[in-house]
Amino acid sequence: MPDNIIVETHFKPDSKMINPEKTKEKSPEFPCKKLILEPEAPLTASERKILDKIQKKFSKNDFQIEITDDKIILYLHSIDLEAFKTCIHGLLSTTDDKKVNKTLILELVEKISRIRSYGVKGGKRVFAAYNDERKVEDRQSKVTRRGQYYYAQDNKFPKKNNTAPKKLENVVICDDSRHALQRLPDNCIDLIITSPPYNFGLGYDTSKDGVNWENYFHTLFAIFDECIRVLKYGGRIIVNIQPLFSDYIPSHHIISNHFIEKKMIWKGEILWEKNNYNCKYTAWGSWKSPGSPYLKYTWEFLEIFAKGDLKKDGDPKNIDITADEFKKWVVAKWSIAPERKMVHYDHPAMFPEELVERALKLFSYEGDIILDPFNGTGTTCVAAKRFNRKYIGIDVSQKYCTIAEKRLKEIFPGTNSSGEDC
Ligand SMILES: C[S@@+](CC[C@H](N)C(=O)[O-])C[C@H]1O[C@@H](n2cnc3c(N)ncnc32)[C@H](O)[C@@H]1O
Repeated sequence: MPDNIIVETHFKPDSKMINPEKTKEKSPEFPCKKLILEPEAPLTASERKILDKIQKKFSKNDFQIEITDDKIILYLHSIDLEAFKTCIHGLLSTTDDKKVNKTLILELVEKISRIRSYGVKGGKRVFAAYNDERKVEDRQSKVTRRGQYYYAQDNKFPKKNNTAPKKLENVVICDDSRHALQRLPDNCIDLIITSPPYNFGLGYDTSKDGVNWENYFHTLFAIFDECIRVLKYGGRIIVNIQPLFSDYIPSHHIISNHFIEKKMIWKGEILWEKNNYNCKYTAWGSWKSPGSPYLKYTWEFLEIFAKGDLKKDGDPKNIDITADEFKKWVVAKWSIAPERKMVHYDHPAMFPEELVERALKLFSYEGDIILDPFNGTGTTCVAAKRFNRKYIGIDVSQKYCTIAEKRLKEIFPGTNSSGEDC
């Protein structure tokens, strides 16, 4: 079948265009796209019946099908595409009527799937007027006048990128990151993915968790400043952090503020939906009273910053994210279960490999070099290795570094990952 579909955006059907004798349909009153299929042969009665059944299963406010002698016209406002597919497949699977050209009917699904510009509302794709609620006028001229990320425009980051020393590639370093990072030159790391201690009071092997907040942020920022220095121009840092809600310490904001002060560009924030409460179910604050209700969260945050430029250069052949992954993961709420192997790896605060996988594929290219300055049991290194990136993992605990090394060797036998002792 030729590609005989016409898509018109924001088409407001004109009643004159519909032949009432043939369709008995009223012109739809909603803004819509008009899709036209021109079958090679006139529609059979069986095909008309199927199209009629499809129409009856869905609201006429979503779409309307008009059948003329030589065309199927779809006035499309919105659609639950999955339900539409299921309906069509269901109807086609129950008919063995030879007079039904199944390819023709399926063509409808395919053509709708191929429309790239749509909004999403209540689980439906909305194809027309989905932007009408936006009140921002003349957005482009505002951007031109005010500029984007005004706070980072006057950064002094050097643009020349370097390569990390070969001997530090694919290595787990046992050291305090404040010192270890000094071994790296400026502008040599493509992406940093890390989760620092949250200062909640967890029982880490060596580092104290639960210190005075000024000291905590002082040490953290010393390490983050080194991270900024070693990042390439255009490189990114992703910090997984959980505020201490119970003490009203918005660590994610305090950290973001620090990066902004250091002229990093805030690229965005991802909610890591863990679907578990961080507090007892019965912690209500002031129960059923506005006195001081306690807010509950089931998610953590990933704060993402870029150095110098939002765009990261790379060879397109080193892109490994699929179209489906991209579509799913740019929606900045990631539902991923917490790591289940913490007891196995004897570490109290690991993040799951899937979190790192998504961050790697969305924000780096194959062959890039990835750093984790709070490496723990090496989740970042494992994901980097699995997805053909190079890694450097640093942790202050010899025990965690040994576990990370062992984990890497178990998952990738035959690799020669040389750890460095504390
Ligand atoms: C939240 S954990 C990271 C866990 C890791 N993402 C994983 O999946 O295993 C934080 C880690 O930071 C380490 N750490 C604390 N202070 C450090 C420092 N100054 N330099 C390097 N590592 C440090 C701790 O030993 C701990 O393993």
